[in-house]
Amino acid sequence: MAKIKTASDSLTIMTNIVLPNETNSLRNLFGGELLAKMDRCASISAARHCERRVVTASVNHVSFNHPIPEGGIVVLESKVSRAFSTSMEIYVDVWLDDPIAGKKIHTNEGIYTFVAVDEFNKPVPIPQMEPESDLEIERFKAAFRRRELSLILSGRMKPQESVELKKLFCQ
Ligand SMILES: CC(C)(COP(=O)(O)OP(=O)(O)OC[C@H]1O[C@@H](n2cnc3c(N)ncnc32)[C@H](O)[C@@H]1OP(=O)(O)O)[C@@H](O)C(=O)NCCC(=O)NCCS
Repeated sequence: MAKIKTASDSLTIMTNIVLPNETNSLRNLFGGELLAKMDRCASISAARHCERRVVTASVNHVSFNHPIPEGGIVVLESKVSRAFSTSMEIYVDVWLDDPIAGKKIHTNEGIYTFVAVDEFNKPVPIPQMEPESDLEIERFKAAFRRRELSLILSGRMKPQESVELKKLFCQ
């Protein structure tokens, strides 16, 4: 029987402190630095899920909601939100952790698509993922339309071929 995994199986947590050479002119974490950290974290989740070599196929969405200052403690948490045939969606949540004030602020999120590949860079099948918590279920459900949108934007799918997106806009 094919292996079924949970989101927790791919949970990856990376904690960093923002150093001066990673900041912009406002002394906040530079966006590109954060993107690289998010991609790294997401790629570990993807590899943990499929136990294969993985590549980034698409960055579907990134939001920068709150600046992260120099010296700030950044916590990235990523998990597989849905597995398809050879591709999987990974959700990355970013937090600014202030242990002195005892506060944790959700600063960013990013949604990535990774593909499991063999040694010839050919996509290979991956295990399915069963969501458990309410949030995992919500993200799992919405992943299908995000996949359609990403495929349309990358020219891999015609808008009229979509199922979930059509339901969203045409009903
Ligand atoms: C990603 C890659 C392996 C896909 O290879 P391909 O031969 O086009 O394979 P397919 O068309 O069969 O697509 C494979 C899967 O990826 C998905 N996919 C590909 N591009 C996608 C995109 N932009 N958004 C969402 N899913 C995408 C397909 O839907 C398919 O999913 P499924 O098997 O779960 O249904 C290939 O394009 C690649 O190697 N890209 C470069 C990756 C890389 O170097 N990343 C690092 C960038 S620095």
